[in-house]
Amino acid sequence: MIDRINQLRAEIDGLDAKTMQDVETIRIKYLSKKGAISELMADFRTVPSEQKRELGQKLNELKTIVTERLNALREKLEQADSVAADMDLTRTAAPMPLGSRHPLSLVRNEIVSIFSRLGFTIAEGPEIEDDWHVFSSLNFAEDHPARDMQDTFFIQRTPDVLLRTHTSSVQSRVMENTQPPIRIICPGRVYRNEAISARAHCFFHQVEALYVDRNVSFADLRQTLLYFAREMFGPETKIRLRPSYFPFTEPSAEMDISCNLCGGKGCSFCKHTGWVEILGCGMVDPNVLDACGIDSGTYTGFALGMGVERITNLKYQVKDLRMFSENDVRFLQQFRSAH
Ligand code: DAH
Repeated sequence: MIDRINQLRAEIDGLDAKTMQDVETIRIKYLSKKGAISELMADFRTVPSEQKRELGQKLNELKTIVTERLNALREKLEQADSVAADMDLTRTAAPMPLGSRHPLSLVRNEIVSIFSRLGFTIAEGPEIEDDWHVFSSLNFAEDHPARDMQDTFFIQRTPDVLLRTHTSSVQSRVMENTQPPIRIICPGRVYRNEAISARAHCFFHQVEALYVDRNVSFADLRQTLLYFAREMFGPETKIRLRPSYFPFTEPSAEMDISCNLCGGKGCSFCKHTGWVEILGCGMVDPNVLDACGIDSGTYTGFALGMGVERITNLKYQVKDLRMFSENDVRFLQQFRSAH
């Protein structure tokens, strides 16, 4: 009898049912009046009394196992049924939410489009750079502080491999490979070793422009800047140039635009000056032209560089730089209607 009980247990473990009818067949086979367990119950009466206790327990266990197995099979089939009932193949699909362009992409595209109307074409370069293209070719002195570990992320020393700290590196790459006329715009990501805060980040984006040809003058630079400022911030925008210093330009300047929030009257955004700084620029230093294989006796050029985050802040008043890289949909969705 014990063998028969064990045999039934093994059988029950392997039971499966595809329909409720199968479940019923199993029930009849094991639990009905003429079923396997009733048969065992009948045999049980003839078992010697000293074995009754052990066998009785085994029999009860078997009954519980069959009942539980049947319940599990029933439940499984019921669940599958309800999933099938929910499946309405004629129902229209759930709408897919439309994405939005990242504000930095919007602004970068706008900058590129303004310059392309002036005949500038896009040039790109690597983000992992060498010392020559980021510093030496651009007339940075050996002991210039920007070469310091504190400002630059080095990947390897001697020979130096580093993350570019500005997109000016694309200037030298293009000049090395192309003779003037050169008229390029270089958008890209740059890296600096800064502690992350609302006002600084370890990576950000720049757009660099370079124009090299015969007789390029500071007046060309100024007119290009005025055109850019008015296209970007509106036809009323004024510009002013302040003398400045960059190793790769001589003379160098920084450009301010009349504050586009208060129209130049003075507000907290422009610190009540009526002006906000937006970019650096200047005439390409003859040393840079020569270093890149362009004859500085024949050609002159201007260059300018701006931070995309800065322009975006001005256009959309994003107060905290970190929002640009947090991927918070609530922030990004606000730019859905922009193009
Ligand atoms: N490379 C400069 C920076 O990262 C920006 C810049 C200034 C670029 C003046 C230029 C320029 O081309 O002429 O701060």
